[in-house]
Amino acid sequence: MSNQTFQPAALFAERMSIIPTSFIREILKVAARPEIISFAGGLPNPKFFPVDAIKAAADKVLTQDGRGTLQYTTTEGYQPLREYIAARYKQKQGLTISPDEILITNGSQQAIDLLGKIFVDKGNKILLELPGYLGTIQSFSAYQPDFGGVRLNEDGVDTEQLAHLYAKHRDIKLFSAIPNFQNPSGTSYSTEVRERVADVLESYNTVVIEDDPYGDLRFIGTRQPSLKHYLGEKAVMMGSFSKTVAPGLRLGWIVATKPIMEKLVVVKQAADLHSNYFAQRVMHQYLIDNDVDAHIATICKAYGEQRDAMLTAIEEFFPSEVRVTKPEGGMFLWATLPEGVVSMDLFDKAIKQNVAFVPGKPFYVEADDYRGGGENTMRLNFSNADAATIREGIKRLGVVMEEMLVAVA
Ligand SMILES: Cc1ncc(COP(=O)(O)O)c(C=O)c1O
Repeated sequence: MSNQTFQPAALFAERMSIIPTSFIREILKVAARPEIISFAGGLPNPKFFPVDAIKAAADKVLTQDGRGTLQYTTTEGYQPLREYIAARYKQKQGLTISPDEILITNGSQQAIDLLGKIFVDKGNKILLELPGYLGTIQSFSAYQPDFGGVRLNEDGVDTEQLAHLYAKHRDIKLFSAIPNFQNPSGTSYSTEVRERVADVLESYNTVVIEDDPYGDLRFIGTRQPSLKHYLGEKAVMMGSFSKTVAPGLRLGWIVATKPIMEKLVVVKQAADLHSNYFAQRVMHQYLIDNDVDAHIATICKAYGEQRDAMLTAIEEFFPSEVRVTKPEGGMFLWATLPEGVVSMDLFDKAIKQNVAFVPGKPFYVEADDYRGGGENTMRLNFSNADAATIREGIKRLGVVMEEMLVAVA
């Protein structure tokens, strides 16, 4: 039978022309060549994956309850894992959360998608940070919203602009925020900014998505109160085991109060019935049998040293006109080149010197009142290279930057 009548391009939903394909994936392909020093990735350091402890946990759950572990389960997730997460919020942040307010998801990436599905209709106004997390831009794009962007300053989101946008539009449904060691910029919201965000949002019927996969990875200073602490049920929190245990298990969660949770459970069920039950059981066994805080402290110590190595090398080798953020945790820092220096051009030159990073432009959502920007910015990941490699890579980048600065002068 002839297939001439089959033209899938004519069948795709309208949204498929709107969802951005992952530009980073293309960059990572280039950056994966063995000779390249890559600051482009966003991967946790596999050195710290607790392989033996996960193996022991898997063995234990299979031995003790093999058949139960391999069965279907409830959409909400494994109750003891939900209880563990709720208890940890109490212990670490003083937040009182019922296990019933926690939904286990397939990584926090799925949480973003489910939230988009329950809240966003075509043309709804939603706000993202500038720069913002690419996974959020991609997920929400499928729901065809009217994006708006709010600048990030050194101490977090620009609350004046946030107030202005809410006052101007009045019907903004969602504001998606990453208050701790943001991906991509590494910035964190100060206590004052958090308080101010809460003040601004107090009088609006809106939801704040508090995306917090990096909160435990703090190597400087002390934990700040969550936005949920100030905003209560208006804040929907998300968390993840990807950065503290292992991303391959794909386990994250959403914290939401009853009316929102009821809708989330419906769309989660429709999406995949429930998150991988075996992975949930293994994760829970791992968490209760091991000293998780000691494990996180080990990761923080290493990432903190790698962050220091990068900042020291930047001080030594980058032209003085280049500004960088000084993250207190997480995995990334953000560099801003002088106006007119295009980081995509820098990328092409840097690759010839076998060093890679991610140019900043794709992290800036294209919004109605925001077009362009970010061409002179770049993301540098410090979690995945040792200090000597970081120093060498930054040195090479510095040389290429100097050349470009001379060229645009
Ligand atoms: C800000 C942010 N949110 C969510 C995610 C998704 O993480 P996961 O699905 O592994 O929990 C990431 C991953 O890098 C991230 O950086």
